[in-house]
Amino acid sequence: MIDAVLPTYNRAPLAFERGEGAWAITADGTRYLDLGAGIAVNALGHANPDLVAALTAQAGRIWHVSNLYQIPEQQRLAEMLVDKTFADTVFVTNSGTEAAELAIKMVRHYWYHHGQPERIEILTFEGAFHGRSTGAIAAAGSEKMVKGFGPLMPGFRQLPWGDIAALKAAISDTTAAVMLEPVQGEGGIRPLPEADLREIRALCDQTGALLVLDEVQCGMGRTGKLFAHEWAGITPDIMMVAKGIGGGFPLGAVLATEQAAEGMVAGTHGSTYGGNPLACAVGAKVMEIVADDDFLAEVRRKGGLMRQKLEGLVAAHPEVFEAVRGEGLMLGLKCKVAPADVVKAGYAEHLLTVPAADNVLRLLPPLTITDDEIGEAVARLDRAAGRLG
Ligand SMILES: Cc1ncc(COP(=O)(O)O)c(C=O)c1O
Repeated sequence: MIDAVLPTYNRAPLAFERGEGAWAITADGTRYLDLGAGIAVNALGHANPDLVAALTAQAGRIWHVSNLYQIPEQQRLAEMLVDKTFADTVFVTNSGTEAAELAIKMVRHYWYHHGQPERIEILTFEGAFHGRSTGAIAAAGSEKMVKGFGPLMPGFRQLPWGDIAALKAAISDTTAAVMLEPVQGEGGIRPLPEADLREIRALCDQTGALLVLDEVQCGMGRTGKLFAHEWAGITPDIMMVAKGIGGGFPLGAVLATEQAAEGMVAGTHGSTYGGNPLACAVGAKVMEIVADDDFLAEVRRKGGLMRQKLEGLVAAHPEVFEAVRGEGLMLGLKCKVAPADVVKAGYAEHLLTVPAADNVLRLLPPLTITDDEIGEAVARLDRAAGRLG
């Protein structure tokens, strides 16, 4: 008999009743050190007092009013994002997938608005992940996601990951946009070299194609900059954000330049829940904390510390691990065994990690993890690896 919950997930036999910072705690009080953070969502840890206060204060005032009216909390969040990024304007969504959908719509509308409605081709990269809507799976194009869900939304072409020569050959003045994650998450913590991102920006400038960056997983301080593209010193035309921006409350956003958003006038897009006061009150608090130079410097320092310890772990377990990769606190361990086996061995050591493609184990702790917890996490990984070696 089918489960009451549609069985689309392979779940671990673990349930958590509460959390504290970097720890997720089961009903019997067992504490698991959380290096998954809800897949890069709980950026400020579990039950962060500042976020709990922001959420409960807003919950006592007003939850939902509809975008028929002004929403001051949404306005505030949008202005904070505009203030700290390349963007001139923001649409607030509930998730990364919804942000991807709007980004795709915005690209199409941009060319429609400019009298080239046939200019619909968006170039994407293999290994990409933009969500599970029909548009997002067509964009990523992986067999695993699209099989059985055709016909696919037209207008996407996947190129080999990071293959600039292939991009040069594919891009032209009929290309609508290039869309990519500066650091692939689901694809296996694969950062695009900064020089390549600069080259992609230049190719977009030469052809007029819009540059759309998906920073749903790698954004909001995860790599030690507020957004990962800042490492390359470039800016996109459109950017998707989600996950960390809500700190665990469902929230996403599409950020755009005024030019890219041209034509997105009243009636072209909307959402019942997107930009509701509860989510935006939390998002504004997350922004206040994360978009701070000292906070981001700490992420970079802790990322360096964790990386250094992980290099030692790889050296100690050459039969299990191959290399460390990633940036800031978005780290991956390339494995020689199945990453799912390391995840399982981690459970036995009360440690939560997340597998990814390309045989990589993802380590995405709360950005607030302490130095001691980093040490403890690597010690537990060491014991987990010992179970496999
Ligand atoms: C890069 C990226 N884009 C989009 C999404 C989809 O976001 P959501 O699951 O919030 O819809 C994800 C989720 O993992 C992601 O990692």
